[in-house]
Amino acid sequence: MIPPLRRVRQSVGAAGPALAGVIAVAAASAQPTVYTEGVVAADHALASRAGAEMLARGGSAVDAAIATSLTLSVVRPMSCGIGGGGFMLIYDPSRPEGERAVALDYRESAPAAVGTDFFRTLDDPDASRFTGAAAGVPGTVAGLAEAHRRFGALPWADLFGPAIRAAEDGFAVDESYMRSAREAIRWYEADPSRKDRFGFVWRRLLRDGAVAEGDVIRNPEQARALRLIARGGHDAFYTGEIAREIVRAAQDAGGVITAEDLAGYTPRAVRPLEGEFLGRRVLTMPLPSSGGVALIQTLGALERYAARRDATLAQWGPRSPDYLHALTEAFKHAFADRAALLGDTPEARAAAARLISPDALDSIAARIDPDTTQPRGGYGAGLAASPPPDDAGTSHLSVVDGRGMAVACTETINLTFGSRVAVEPFGFCLNNEMDDFTTAPGAVNAFGLRQSDANLPAPGKRPLSSMTPTIALDRAGRVELVAGAAGGPRIITGTAQAVLNVLAFGMSADRAVSAPRIHHQFFPPVLAVEPGLIEPPAPAADAGPAEVMRMVRAVEDGRRIKEALETRGHRLGRIESVGVVQIVRRSGDGFQAASDPRRGGSPAGVRAGRVEADPRIER
Ligand code: GLY
Repeated sequence: MIPPLRRVRQSVGAAGPALAGVIAVAAASAQPTVYTEGVVAADHALASRAGAEMLARGGSAVDAAIATSLTLSVVRPMSCGIGGGGFMLIYDPSRPEGERAVALDYRESAPAAVGTDFFRTLDDPDASRFTGAAAGVPGTVAGLAEAHRRFGALPWADLFGPAIRAAEDGFAVDESYMRSAREAIRWYEADPSRKDRFGFVWRRLLRDGAVAEGDVIRNPEQARALRLIARGGHDAFYTGEIAREIVRAAQDAGGVITAEDLAGYTPRAVRPLEGEFLGRRVLTMPLPSSGGVALIQTLGALERYAARRDATLAQWGPRSPDYLHALTEAFKHAFADRAALLGDTPEARAAAARLISPDALDSIAARIDPDTTQPRGGYGAGLAASPPPDDAGTSHLSVVDGRGMAVACTETINLTFGSRVAVEPFGFCLNNEMDDFTTAPGAVNAFGLRQSDANLPAPGKRPLSSMTPTIALDRAGRVELVAGAAGGPRIITGTAQAVLNVLAFGMSADRAVSAPRIHHQFFPPVLAVEPGLIEPPAPAADAGPAEVMRMVRAVEDGRRIKEALETRGHRLGRIESVGVVQIVRRSGDGFQAASDPRRGGSPAGVRAGRVEADPRIER
């Protein structure tokens, strides 16, 4: 018997994403909920509810996204927050053509004192990861305020209620929190002096290493920051008491952020990057996101490659070796180009435009050999190229409101609990986004990504990112899909597969996020595969004959996929999780939504004027 979703989700806590294949089956068997007045998918139930609460009060998708983001800052302090930055892609169908789509870039920027050689002069291997110098100038509050100025419908201060409640009343530690906590506790235990130097995270968020599932964490300091920002907006963060404490925290920990850096921070509003896939318009994030470029390259190359072989992706199917081979090859080309060419510079922007041109996409499609992989130098645009811990330092949220406005928003503090340097009086961690720069020629970042001189640090420059907030419009110009992910470079591959699962294979929202995924980032030369794809879990002890037979077939299918990929030259590895995806997808006149079971969380939406959380999902 196929286990009900409730039981499967409890199992995931113990066994992790190894059960992804089962989740896909279980989710597929349930009837999806369709929300007609808006829905939010975030990686924490309280955050989705915060957004849905704003939608039910008549707020726009942007209002909902802001309330969700602020709540995530409290309940996912390891993943994102007001000490970090992000990208928000907004599509508002009620505006005139040409003004409907906006990409807000509120990525952290390098302080004025940071030049190309900055990290090489510090002589500290941890400098770009776990010191005050690792922190870029935070952008989240500026980005949210700008989004609200342009697209908000409710008063700014009203958006803070759920986040302040979560900070003051507390939130329960869940399994996802514990996964990050265990990783961080190991880091503290490896060098106990860190417990003093990075004391807020250790004491408050990890409870001196004794944090346990079900514990209630309160953060009155962050509640105070949120109240100040609710009253004073952007300036309360960038010029007031909070700014002074950010400077103090960063500089006390060896950083160089100044009051001028904070006062001068501005978000950028730019045109989204645009591509086409199977007749849809795909809107996504331009540089300094590498994710948008890679997504358009991957989708464009795959569609063209299938056409060259007189086939469609749907004919091949999501588990076919033909598709998985072509997808892997497309990822390798995209990551090779990322490593060689991309950064926050005018030259890189020109290169990105070339990389997503029809000629370049045709060229990748022509260079995918159906039978084998290429020699190492055969990937990317032919320029010198080369490029992972589990990433819990990022969070994505997807929103659609009842009027069809959509938001795809990905926010980050980079690694789990960011730099671990906290602004203690205000209860939040500073990011360590500086590690996403090319900190030294040839150096790899924490995600194993090698990058070019285009991504060297410079004053005010923003580090290359993998965040890939994406919105697809159907042939009638309506929002069809809102997607994005957390997970370092796996953001790109995770988002791409969720998009393919919906647009090419027609999967429901639940199946599209829970189906097992693959990841290849060109370097290291390994095709990383989630267990659910080729190693289905053993049947439960009480499984009936039909379930046992289904599992036997799944094992055979997995072996067939593995052999077919190895025959084509792929070196397979195992990976527990390829990103954490949140999507909203059209379903008739409404929307389905799904939060990735790899991290937990659940969507919340509005029907008949009432906030509803997905009834099938365990809280
Ligand atoms: N901090 C992860 C990224 O932006 O790619």
